[in-house]
Amino acid sequence: MEKKYCTAVVLAAGKGSRMGGNTAKQYMEIGGKPLVAYALEVFEASPVIDEIILMTDAGHMEYVQTEIVEAYGLKKVSTIGAGGGERYESVWKALCTLMDREEGEKESVVRERQDGYVFIHDGARPFVTGEIIERAYRAVCKCNACVVGMPVKDTIKLVNREGMIESSPDRSMVWQAQTPQVFSVPLIVEAFTRQMREDCTGITDDAMVVEAQMGVKAHMVMGSYANIKITTPEDLFMAEVLRNSII
Ligand code: CTP
Ligand code: MG
Repeated sequence: MEKKYCTAVVLAAGKGSRMGGNTAKQYMEIGGKPLVAYALEVFEASPVIDEIILMTDAGHMEYVQTEIVEAYGLKKVSTIGAGGGERYESVWKALCTLMDREEGEKESVVRERQDGYVFIHDGARPFVTGEIIERAYRAVCKCNACVVGMPVKDTIKLVNREGMIESSPDRSMVWQAQTPQVFSVPLIVEAFTRQMREDCTGITDDAMVVEAQMGVKAHMVMGSYANIKITTPEDLFMAEVLRNSII
């Protein structure tokens, strides 16, 4: 089967408010390397990925260009774009970049990219792997929308506003969503185009948008328990430990 063009969107435009501190978490160093560089290196090395669009905050564009893209020799990064105030806005801006034709770009390349797949990944998830990317690619070729995730280990409780437990969903049916979340480009672009005309509160991932706007259910693809998102300070300690055991 012919290999489809794949773009990775790596999101690094958040403020990291749950982490706290002066440096946004995606630029904090683990083992002497900025957090976001880990995922970027994995996408760079993956034969599945043709191009990377990196979204950052307006104040870090130069830093990212020199200290990350150049310093780590990331040749697949075609654009460093400024993200938005919310995650879905950063995704939307990246999708607009993906649909754009760069100056001097061949029409055939643009068409291939617009007709390919997009891997949307949290820059704060350093331990994505080449195998996960390949699993997700195989899945998206069959179903056009897939989410990497893992079965939850704890029993999950749904609580009401008063903090009373309402129900306990069957644990075998509950998965934690991770990233990458991978879609056919025409599908996700149409979904976001529709979503952006509506109220976007409560949108925390991309599969939600595809399901709500297009009625397309995403497939769950096995990720890994090491594919954690660095969110709060204890995750940084976990990341140090995982880095030493994986890399
Ligand atoms: N992100 C982004 N643009 C935003 C918000 C988030 O690109 N406006 C990115 C973050 O940089 C991160 C990923 O989306 O890599 C997942 O978001 P999250 O873990 O929520 O990061 P933050 O929004 O930075 O953290 P917090 O919610 O604690 O402020
Ligand atoms: Mg956030």
